[in-house]
Amino acid sequence: MRSATLLIIEDEERMRRLLELVLQQEGYDLLLAASGEEGIKLLSEHSELDLVLTDLQLGKLSGLDVLEETKKTRPDVPVLIVTGYGTVKSAVEAMRKGAYDYISKPVDHDELKILIARALELRRLAQDNQALRAGLREQFGFDRIVSRSPAMAEVKRLAADFAQTDATVLVTGESGTGKELLARAIHYASPRAARPLVAVNCAGIPESLIESELFGYEPGAFTDARKSKQGRFQLAHRGTLFLDEIGELGPAAQAKLLRVLEDRVVEPLGGTRSVRVDIRVICATNQDLPGLIKQGRFREDLYYRLHVCPLTIPPLRERPEDIPMLLDAFLGTLMHERGVRIHHVSPDALRLLTAHPWPGNVRELHNAVEWISLSCKEDTIRPDHLPPQLRAAAGSAQKERPSLLSLGLSVEEVEKAMLEEALDKAGGNVSEAGRILKITRNTLRYRMEKYGLK
Ligand SMILES: Nc1ncnc2c1ncn2[C@@H]1O[C@H](COP(=O)(O)OP(=O)(O)OP(=O)(O)O)[C@@H](O)[C@H]1O
Ligand SMILES: [Mg+2]
Repeated sequence: MRSATLLIIEDEERMRRLLELVLQQEGYDLLLAASGEEGIKLLSEHSELDLVLTDLQLGKLSGLDVLEETKKTRPDVPVLIVTGYGTVKSAVEAMRKGAYDYISKPVDHDELKILIARALELRRLAQDNQALRAGLREQFGFDRIVSRSPAMAEVKRLAADFAQTDATVLVTGESGTGKELLARAIHYASPRAARPLVAVNCAGIPESLIESELFGYEPGAFTDARKSKQGRFQLAHRGTLFLDEIGELGPAAQAKLLRVLEDRVVEPLGGTRSVRVDIRVICATNQDLPGLIKQGRFREDLYYRLHVCPLTIPPLRERPEDIPMLLDAFLGTLMHERGVRIHHVSPDALRLLTAHPWPGNVRELHNAVEWISLSCKEDTIRPDHLPPQLRAAAGSAQKERPSLLSLGLSVEEVEKAMLEEALDKAGGNVSEAGRILKITRNTLRYRMEKYGLK
């Protein structure tokens, strides 16, 4: 680790030498200035600076000017003020303006060392925190959403715009299209990125618990409620609340959610108190909310509250040009994580991959890549390495579908043939044959009788 660099601004030469001596012993790199002007010049020239130690009373420019300049150009660098006798009032003023702390003359060396060490430690923590947040942004940012289709580019562009606002976002799309990924990217691109993202899976919490989970409760709200509990809304204060599978929310919770969105206050169960919350809401669903409204299962007024900034992620089959890029990205991850070395895909295999309808969307593709990573021992993916459902599609896509009518059979004959084949396959076991044919045992017995089968 590099040693910290301190800038010392002190016009009294004897004092400057003393500080230099004391702090050099501590192993710091030092820059020395005899005036405010000189100090500000060094400040602008040395980006590696970690801390400024300045006397309050200098010549023309004062320590306060140095402080102001540092706050303006290097807001992350702490400023420590050294005050003379009778200037404590100005020191308090300096603190108000953002100085880290002050120390009075005559300076106690140990106290000074401790103050500096603590200020540097705090700065290091702040930097770690920033790096961590940058890491999160990378882990959950828009760059993580792999795509090259114009449709996805448009979704990402809109989402990036929405991220800058506090407006409620509703993400829709089929299962596995990346709704959660997009919701997280919005949070981490938003001004709330440093605050929590609290995710609630509305489908994962039983109806009886959802209200206490979301809104919290006060002691005595119900038999077991001895202490109060914060709801997810309170936990998301100043951050983002991600309500996943919003279509699964029951009527009571829907009514309460509507009120919270309207008033931005939460009333914990069993309480009389309301709590103001500052939250940004992002919702997601793979259900057709207008359809649910028609069936009376989703409140129309709530829908309009949520439908402020709508984003719809198209299914993967509508953007096949994303498939090769996703494939590459998933293989790249597997190479990092498990040393999988697959670099190519044969034209036949690629044709199958892009022709598949991907009902499970990107999640299904991800699973397919996992399968391929186990079945493919060479560096090129061929049709044989693909999961069965893709290879099966190959058969029906390549061969013309045989015409059953051209066989000139009656429906009865076809049914009889199917029963015989299933019974044969099940070794005469009627229950098993029923399972193969997807009919009940009784139905099968009835039909066997009809066709005189044993
Ligand atoms: N464009 C993409 N780039 C990279 N990974 C993606 C992309 N879209 C989806 N994924 C990955 O696919 C998987 C499913 O994504 P996600 O959970 O966000 O989907 P979802 O729409 O929320 O699905 P569900 O409706 O089933 O909850 C995740 O592993 C996610 O990382
Ligand atoms: Mg999801």
